[in-house]
Amino acid sequence: MWGLFDSGKDRTIGIDIGTSGIKIVELQHNPKTKEVRLTNYVMVGFRESLPQREREKRITKDEVAKLLKAAVKEGKLKAKNSSFSVPAFSSFISFVTMPRVKKEDIRQALTSEAQKFIPVSLEEVVLGWEVIDEPEQKEIANIRDQNKMKVLLLAVPKDIVTKYKEIAELSGLQMQNLEVEAFPLLRSLTLNYQKTFVILDIGSRVCNILVVSGGSLRGARNIGIGGDDFTDILARSINVSYERAEELKKNEGLLNKQVAELLKPVLGNIIDELKRVISVYKNKNPNKEIEELILSGGTASMKGLAEMFYGQLGLNTSVGDPWKKLTVDEKIKPLVAQKGASFSIAIGLALKNE
Ligand SMILES: Nc1ncnc2c1ncn2[C@@H]1O[C@H](COP(=O)(O)OP(=O)(O)OP(=O)(O)O)[C@@H](O)[C@H]1O
Ligand SMILES: [Mg+2]
Repeated sequence: MWGLFDSGKDRTIGIDIGTSGIKIVELQHNPKTKEVRLTNYVMVGFRESLPQREREKRITKDEVAKLLKAAVKEGKLKAKNSSFSVPAFSSFISFVTMPRVKKEDIRQALTSEAQKFIPVSLEEVVLGWEVIDEPEQKEIANIRDQNKMKVLLLAVPKDIVTKYKEIAELSGLQMQNLEVEAFPLLRSLTLNYQKTFVILDIGSRVCNILVVSGGSLRGARNIGIGGDDFTDILARSINVSYERAEELKKNEGLLNKQVAELLKPVLGNIIDELKRVISVYKNKNPNKEIEELILSGGTASMKGLAEMFYGQLGLNTSVGDPWKKLTVDEKIKPLVAQKGASFSIAIGLALKNE
């Protein structure tokens, strides 16, 4: 009965516009019990008939909005308030050490520091920040370091913010939050807030590498390699169509020796980058151990991938399960399990309920 009066007030929508399509999740938050229930999820692909690289170039803001509007209607999503994510390659994240100042003076101090870390003019970006001093850091810090503070600095180009606002408006939604995708990723994939671990999200076009410790972001880097590159390499090397190569990649993955051999160099590039990020973190935090690697994104489902990373890095590796934080109807549990970690960002966005 209560459904009749369900106005969508306690519901949130998370929208992840990726290269291959849009993932949407709607959640219902129970303010008393803190239970979060999955009310719906939708995935729409961008013009599936086009080769992946073409899709990404040709999809316009209006087309995204049209698809999104249709998906919200079809999914009977009730919430109007929605959160969107900005792709890693459209944003800048830096970890800045600067002279310690009072909270109210941070904006001023950062504005003069920020330009050193952001490759575009400050006039063109929206800035955000978070102070991230770790208590255990202070124990080993010397007196000079006590006068310094560590700040996570974020910048998103203003035209990107405008684009997302317009997409929301055109689709009849209100944009409540716009987050750089690192944050929803760590929100949906952090189960143990004491742990130090690495998240590797491999989508179609980009790898997003994050270091998380004590539930906060401590390192971030993205590289322009994604699952579509795997397909491209396979298609070219064995001279088959893109579709056939995609099938081979999804059905057999690295369990097929030829696939594993052909993808070795590109996987090697990802491993090198992971090692670099881990070593930067370890140098700055010698008293911390990276305990595991969590895979996310569509490519995380690739057969043999987690085992390969374990073999190469000696780090416990698993595919993240962002659905674990939600109450999911028994009926749709098997369907949700198939989606694996491709909804990590959409779920993380919708988990933020403020
Ligand atoms: N079972 C599978 N095995 C291997 N690759 C897979 C599998 N399922 C999906 N993929 C790949 O995952 C990729 C899509 O992942 P995802 O949905 O995370 O990308 P995206 O968010 O659209 O892209 P990006 O984040 O790079 O913009 C595609 O390259 C697809 O081929
Ligand atoms: Mg993605």
